[in-house]
Formats: sequence, structure tokens, C-alpha cells
Amino acid sequence: PLQKSYSIASIGADGIGPEVISAGVAVLRCLAETLGSFDLEFTDYDWSSETYKRTGKYIPDGGLDQLRKHDAIFFGAVGAPDVPDHVSLWSLRLAICQPFQQFANVRPTRVLRGTRSPLRDCKPGDLDWVIVRENSEGEYAGQGGRSHKGRAWETATEVAIFTRHGVERIMRFAFETARARPRKLLTVVTKSNAQRNGMVLWDEVAADMAREFPDVTVDKMLVDAMTTRMVLNPKSLDTIVATNLHADILSDLAAALAGSIGIAPTSNLDPTRENPSMFEPIHGSAFDITGKGIANPVATFWTAAEMLAWLGEEEAAAQLMACVENVCGAGVVTADLGGTATTKQVTEAVIAEIKATL
Ligand code: NAI
Ligand code: MG
Repeated sequence: PLQKSYSIASIGADGIGPEVISAGVAVLRCLAETLGSFDLEFTDYDWSSETYKRTGKYIPDGGLDQLRKHDAIFFGAVGAPDVPDHVSLWSLRLAICQPFQQFANVRPTRVLRGTRSPLRDCKPGDLDWVIVRENSEGEYAGQGGRSHKGRAWETATEVAIFTRHGVERIMRFAFETARARPRKLLTVVTKSNAQRNGMVLWDEVAADMAREFPDVTVDKMLVDAMTTRMVLNPKSLDTIVATNLHADILSDLAAALAGSIGIAPTSNLDPTRENPSMFEPIHGSAFDITGKGIANPVATFWTAAEMLAWLGEEEAAAQLMACVENVCGAGVVTADLGGTATTKQVTEAVIAEIKATL
């Protein structure tokens, strides 16, 4: 039979990005070889803040056309101490997400076996969420400007954009995500008491769409109250949908509540599948630990599993996660999870687990 083969673009970029992406590529290669049911072909792109400082560009001319040829993009992190963060983010990560219309940012969070929530009494199973973040407009639409630069009356605007099309497509994706999970529970987060235009549109779209999904239970939260519910009653939540800004913040909180930002994955999806989707750990380039060999690669392994599932290899994804959880459960974890293992030791342990059990 013809072997399925997937072409993956890998972009480690900055800081710990290349350290965790090379660990992720090694684990994925081992998984594909061990299972023997599909092939993975990696093409590495050395786009980073270093390239930017050398050439003035993060993405060379024609770069997006090169990326478009791949089935998926496996991304590390972008950000360097000597480049303003808004320049690096907009020139590399958002410069891929936006033209590729990766409008759904999906962030699963749960307490993995062998890791501990900082919440007293929160066991694996008590916190199992998927946050769906609008990823193309809202507060990060990039509209606004600055006038009277440097004067006392300098004025800056940051305009949030909510289009009916944009809200409907993310809401539909969130309802479908909720429907595919056992509890079929969707929490719609807004701030429609204070933000009385865009957020009221969200509420209206959610209420309309709920009629198309009678099997999904919907509840509504204001974002400030949502933070307390996440901490005080994590079991009451399952699938969560929120705007670009709100979900950005809530998902960092979610990652911390699940044990560490070093385990949390994220997918930037184009659900139409017209363009490749991009998969990355949610953490940044972590200057404070770059080059020390202690970055937690688990977020990247989980990211790899999410990528496989999106490509249609759900079973391989689940097998990879089981191996990762076995390794965490055996106590082979990095310092952010209270352990002493290095990036390399965790990676080698996962590879050994794949070879031993699959
Ligand atoms: P960060 O996520 O890089 O680091 C926050 C803290 O978490 C640091 O103490 C770091 O050591 C720790 N940490 C992060 N990942 C870890 C891992 N895998 N293992 C163990 N510890 C880990 O966030 P920060 O410091 O706010 O940003 C640093 C740079 O990264 C900035 O330039 C920022 O713009 C960029 N960034 C990029 C992102 C992306 O490319 N998607 C996302 C977030 C930040
Ligand atoms: Mg963030």
C-alpha cells in the first residue's frame, strides 16, 4: 500500500525555540519509524531574529510561498532581547498566521499524569479544558495609530475589530469542538457589560448559533469572573471560546493552573484547510533559560501530537501522548515541574518509551 507522507516545515526561531523544536523533530521521527504507518518529511527554515538582524527580514521574499507547500508548520518561539517584541511577533508569527487565515487558535489544557496543579485538590481529570481563541481580528487586528509622537498630548489608538464573519466562523468552530468532546459544554466568554458593541455582537452570534447545536450546553461568562471560576471551580469548565486578547490571557492562566507553561501546546488552524496550519508550544523564547539545556520539551511534544491529530493521525497522536505521560509519571521532568531532568534526558526518555511500548 502507498505510505502516507506528510511534509512539515520546522521553524525553531529564537531562544529555546530551536532547542525544543529539535527535540520535537527527534521524537516525531522516532514515532513515525516505530509505527511504520506514515512518513514525516521535515524541512527546516532558519528564520529568526538573527536572520532579521543580518538581512532586515524575518521571512525572505517568497518565504510564504515555500511554506504554503507544506502540510503543517512546526514552530518554536520568536522574540529576542534586542528586538522590540511587537516587531518580532508581527514580522514572523503573525506574518504567518494572518495571511494563512489561521483564525482558530486552539489550546488544550489538562493536568498530565505525573504533573501537579498548583491548585490544592486538583487532580488529573479535574482540569481538562480546550480554549478556543479567535486568532485573526479582535483586539489584535493591528488597527490604530499614533499621533503627536513624543509630545505631552501624544495620542495612540488600538482599535478592536469584530466582524460578523470573523465571530461566526470562530463560534462555529468552538461549537463543533465542544460537540466533539464528551461533555458537550461550551462557555462563551465576553465582556459585554462594559464593551457594548463588539462583545454584544459575540453574545448575539453565540445565542443564534446555539440553536443549530441543541446538543451542546452553552453558558456565558464575563472575562473577569471567568478568572475566578477557572481557579475556584475548574471542574465546571470544558470548552471555552473567547476573543484574541481575552483568550490569550486566560490560556496563560490555564497553563499555569495545569502545572507549567512548559507543557502547554497551541494550534493555529485554518479550518478550511486551504492553507497549512501552524503548531507551537504556547511559551515564548525564554531568554532566562536559553542555552542551558533545561527547557521543558513536553509542550512541544504535546504540540507534535496536536499536529499529528490535525493531519489525521489521531491514533499516533494519542500513542505519543501516552508515552509522554508515562515519562512524566515516572518522574523524568524538568525543573519547571519540580524535577531535575534536562531537555535531552526527557527527550531520550520519551524516545525510549516509544521504542519500548509501541
Ligand atoms: P516566556 O514564555 O518566554 O517565559 C516566561 C517564563 O516561563 C520564563 O521564566 C521562562 O523561563 C519560563 N518558560 C517558558 N517556557 C519554558 C519551558 N519550555 N520550560 C521551562 N520554563 C519555561 O515568556 P516571556 O518571558 O514573556 O517572553 C520572552 C520572549 O518570548 C519575548 O520576546 C516574547 O515576545 C516572546 N514570546 C513569543 C511567543 C511566541 O513565539 N509564540 C509567545 C510568548 C512570548
Ligand atoms: Mg500569549
